[in-house]
Amino acid sequence: MTQQVVLIPGDGIGPQITQVAKRVMEAAGADIEWLDRPAGAGAFEEFGHLIPPQTFEAIENCHVALKGPITTPIGKGFSSVNVQLRKHFKLYAAVRPVRSMPGIKTRYENVEIVVIRENTEGLYSGLEHEVVPGVVESIKVATETGCERIARFAFNYAKQRSRRKVTVFHKANIMKMSDGLFIKCSDRMHKQVGEGIEYQELIIDNGCMQLVRDPNAFDILLLENFYGDVVSDLCAGLVGGLGVVPGANFGDDCAIFEAVHGSAPDIAGLGIANPLAVIMSGVMMLNHIDQSSAADKIKNAYDLVLAEGNCEEITRDIGGTASTQEFAEALIKRM
Ligand code: NAI
Repeated sequence: MTQQVVLIPGDGIGPQITQVAKRVMEAAGADIEWLDRPAGAGAFEEFGHLIPPQTFEAIENCHVALKGPITTPIGKGFSSVNVQLRKHFKLYAAVRPVRSMPGIKTRYENVEIVVIRENTEGLYSGLEHEVVPGVVESIKVATETGCERIARFAFNYAKQRSRRKVTVFHKANIMKMSDGLFIKCSDRMHKQVGEGIEYQELIIDNGCMQLVRDPNAFDILLLENFYGDVVSDLCAGLVGGLGVVPGANFGDDCAIFEAVHGSAPDIAGLGIANPLAVIMSGVMMLNHIDQSSAADKIKNAYDLVLAEGNCEEITRDIGGTASTQEFAEALIKRM
């Protein structure tokens, strides 16, 4: 049955890479009716809203979206559209699979980590204020409901995919109450729903050191919002960078798929962005909507193109010379 999917092009490199991803999915035979809807800085200029009502409405109706990256001003201006979408649709679980890709040389081999990040609480609650001039406060929120929900998600995810271990990174030695609650709930959920899954807690500074020393020691990482944001980029660096790591944001009845990377303003409009991460996010989305034969076709195609490693078929960030379009053509040729 044809599935309606909302496509949010986003800002910077977003429109170009999402168009290419759509083309690749169509070439793989995905049975999708795309509803293009705006959000982000561009949407604000055109419609006067960062997330126009028609975008909220379309996601509410379809329950699935593929999103390009969205620019957020640094240190001033509007609050993050991504955070707003995640909160509005209660997309509490960000899932970012990080794996060594054929043909992409890095310091490590056979890395296979899934970063599971709590997406709605922590420091990203956006509760900041000036107490007196020169003193600001940023409030970190952790609720028992939110901590249990993400931990339950992580252990269920591990069981469904036959993974072996969940490691929680925390700083409960300093943030005894908020991170303390996070590990208490993780431990409780391990006992309740994590049968057969190994469970480990590491203080995050030590965890990061161990991660770059031996990433193969890790399987699933479970983190609160801020740590998850930072550590997922670190993990991307282990396997070749932001161009090769997909992501999904899951709630109980809605999912938005997007690459881990941002809008890359430094290369926007040059036609050289790597569309692979958003294409891989599209593969996660196709599996989510039960269109796994199209998903497999695309995955086989990019594994082949990367393994062959022809410079003219891969983008600059991973050692080639291909444009965004040329990379997409190479994938379509292999299907
Ligand atoms: P970024 O991920 O946009 O870029 C970091 C570096 O990686 C840049 O050198 C960029 O050229 C490169 N890069 C990123 N994606 C690439 C791709 N697909 N192909 C080739 N090279 C790529 O991070 P940055 O510069 O910190 O953020 C830029 C903007 O993006 C900010 O406004 C930020 O808030 C936003 N952002 C949005 C996200 C989202 O919508 N999910 C996630 C992260 C950042």
